[in-house]
Amino acid sequence: MNLYFDNSSTSFPKPEGVSQSINEYFSHGGTYGRAAYNRVIEVSRKVESTRSLLANLIGTSLAPNVVFTSNATHAINLFIRGMRYPKKKVIISPLEHNAVCRPLQYLFQTAGVGVDTFPHHPDGRIDIQKAAKVNFASYDLGIINHVSNVNGVIQPIKEIKRLMGNTPLLVDASQSAGRVEIRADEWKLDALALTGHKGIMGPTGTGALFIRNPDMADPLIFGGTGSNSESYLQPIDLPDRFEAGTPNIVGIYGLWGALSSGMGYSFKREHFVELLHEISTFSSFKLLAADDTDFQSDVFSIKPLGMEVSELARILFEKFSVETRSGLHCAPLAHRTLGTFTTGAVRFSLSKFHTDNDLDYLHSCLKKIDEGRS
Ligand SMILES: Cc1ncc(COP(=O)(O)O)c(C=O)c1O
Repeated sequence: MNLYFDNSSTSFPKPEGVSQSINEYFSHGGTYGRAAYNRVIEVSRKVESTRSLLANLIGTSLAPNVVFTSNATHAINLFIRGMRYPKKKVIISPLEHNAVCRPLQYLFQTAGVGVDTFPHHPDGRIDIQKAAKVNFASYDLGIINHVSNVNGVIQPIKEIKRLMGNTPLLVDASQSAGRVEIRADEWKLDALALTGHKGIMGPTGTGALFIRNPDMADPLIFGGTGSNSESYLQPIDLPDRFEAGTPNIVGIYGLWGALSSGMGYSFKREHFVELLHEISTFSSFKLLAADDTDFQSDVFSIKPLGMEVSELARILFEKFSVETRSGLHCAPLAHRTLGTFTTGAVRFSLSKFHTDNDLDYLHSCLKKIDEGRS
C-alpha cells in the first residue's frame, strides 16, 4: 500500500528509470558541453535529450529556450528578477505560492512594483468573464499558478492568455508539469517555470524555465558556459545566456529517467472524483477543492472543524500511517483567498503510483476520524 500523500512537496516513489539513469552517469562521469572527448559528448547528448523531453512535455518546439535551473523557485526568480517593469504593475492569480509572492514583495520594496489580483471565483479559479474587462495593457506581467498546491484548482491558462494579448504571462507549472496538459506554443505562453521533483517524479535539485523571447529577461547568474570563452560578456544565445556554471548533471540524468518512464495513472479519475465527493459529505471537515471537478487536479486539502490541522495530520500518521502536509503550504495568499489563513489545512497530494485501493484506504481513515467526532 502507498500511504505517502505528500507528492506536492516532493514525489515518492520515483520511477525505476530515475536511479538507473543516475547510476549510468556515475558509471562513466564527465562534464557537459566543455570538451570534445567521448565522455563529454555522451553527457552533452543526454542533457540535450532531457531538454527536448522537457520541451515536449510542455508543448514547445523551442527546446533551446528551455533552460535548466535548480528548481521552480530558481526559475521563477530568474524570470521575475530579470524582467523590466516600466509600468510598475504586475497582476497575479489569488492562489500564488511564496516562490512568486516573495520575489514580488522584494520588487515592491526595492523598485515600487505594485501587485493586483485577477478577478476570481470563491475557489480561486480566475473568472474569465470578469477578466475580460481588465485593462491588461496597463501591466508589465501576469503570473498564474497553473495548479494550486492547496486546493488543486487548474487555471484556464489558454483563455486567460488570449485575453491578455501581448502582455507577458509567466506560468508557475510547479504542480502541473507531469500532472496536467501544458501547451506552451499553442497557448502562446511567454514563460513557464517548472520543477523536476514533483509531478514529473524526477530528483530534487532539478527544474527549468521556458522563456520564449530571451531578451525579456537579463540573466541572474553570470559565468562560464564553455562557449565564447574569449569574451567577458555573457553569451546571448540560448540556453547559455541563462546557464552559467556546470549544471546538475546527476539530477538531469535522473530527470531523463523520469521523463522517459512513460508512466500513466494507476488510479481511475472517476474513483478520485468519487473520493472527493465522499469527503465533502463528512461533517468534521471542510473540503478545499475546485468548485467544478473539470478544473480539479489530484491535489486537495481539508480543514478539520474544531481540531488543529497539526492534530489531524498527527492522527493520520500515528493511527493510519498516512503521510500528509499540514499548515500553510508556503502559500499564505492561497489560504487567505480560501478563508483558511492563518490555520492552514491538511493537504493530500497523489501520484501516478497510487491505486484505487490506496484511495479507498484514505477514504476509510477519514471516515473513521469523522465518525469518531460526530
Ligand atoms: C505552486 C508552487 N510554486 C512553486 C513551488 C516551488 O517549488 P520548488 O521548491 O521545487 O522550487 C512550489 C513547491 O511547493 C509550488 O507548489
